[in-house]
Amino acid sequence: MPAHYSGTSFAKQFGAWAVVAGGSDGIGGAFAKDAAARGLNVAIIARRAEPLEKLANRIASEYAVETLTIQADLTSQDMVAQIASATDDLDVGLFVHNAGSSLHAAGFLDQSVEDANFLVELSCRAPTLLAHHFGTRLRTRGRGGMIFMSSLACLAGNGLQATYAATKAFDTSFAEGLWIELAPQGVDVMGVLAGATRTETMLDQKASKFEDAMDPTLVAQGAFDHLGKGPNWVPGDENQAAAKGLWPIPRVAVVNAMSQSTAALFDLPMKPVEGREFHEND
Ligand SMILES: NC(=O)c1ccc[n+]([C@@H]2O[C@H](COP(=O)([O-])OP(=O)(O)OC[C@H]3O[C@@H](n4cnc5c(N)ncnc54)[C@H](OP(=O)(O)O)[C@@H]3O)[C@@H](O)[C@H]2O)c1
Repeated sequence: MPAHYSGTSFAKQFGAWAVVAGGSDGIGGAFAKDAAARGLNVAIIARRAEPLEKLANRIASEYAVETLTIQADLTSQDMVAQIASATDDLDVGLFVHNAGSSLHAAGFLDQSVEDANFLVELSCRAPTLLAHHFGTRLRTRGRGGMIFMSSLACLAGNGLQATYAATKAFDTSFAEGLWIELAPQGVDVMGVLAGATRTETMLDQKASKFEDAMDPTLVAQGAFDHLGKGPNWVPGDENQAAAKGLWPIPRVAVVNAMSQSTAALFDLPMKPVEGREFHEND
């Protein structure tokens, strides 16, 4: 049966430290706060020092946990070395790759190729490098978790957000592949397909449209509650209904079948993994 972590079992599986890449505000800030509320120390990564320090101080004053801030750009060449040297001495049990919002909608050829490539670096290159770094550590210790922030935009190609939707398809598919590979090693992996969420990044761009959007706290709480149960989580009933319509075949079955087929093709072992769907709660 899929694992279910709550209370002290969450801290036991995913403690002692959570690392949140893009963790100073928005959904990442909510992940950092909720991890602290569950008893984990938190290391948060972002580019701007002030929001990082502000959130770290707030977490330290509200919860009996340690905090660490890492000022780094996730698209920079040396970011893995920078993050590794800051966290190598910590007992990291949970890695969350959060940063990845699209900053605008525009036709692919009507925006600069640098803007498109920035999203690929942030939402494909960075999670690949950091998942390899932290995943290796988690597999060695035989327990832990990784969460990758995706979006409902991953469900289909999306005009005016062609690159964004494609990077989110990468994040979802990457999380599903790591979910089946690492579950037998004690490491729980999950992608989160969020819908419109009221975060600073989105309010800055489209204030009026995002004022009634979902609270980031609910996204983070729901994701942590679902971690260990299945490869994906979709926050919100309406978003779940939309995802279910576009993913009529249960994802757990699809991921297992695709993995078995690859294993058969290459004569490699691959055991099926049980799991719940993104809309199945306790
Ligand atoms: N908000 C929504 O409506 C929505 C909907 C669906 C999916 N999502 C997904 O949820 C995730 C979080 O979205 P969000 O709205 O909270 O905004 P976001 O802009 O993706 O994340 C904000 C956090 O990431 C940091 N960050 C951004 N770029 C960074 C970089 N290059 N290097 C290091 N840190 C960086 C920000 O701090 P600094 O700016 O100081 O670096 C801040 O801490 C994204 O992956 C997004 O695709 C969001």
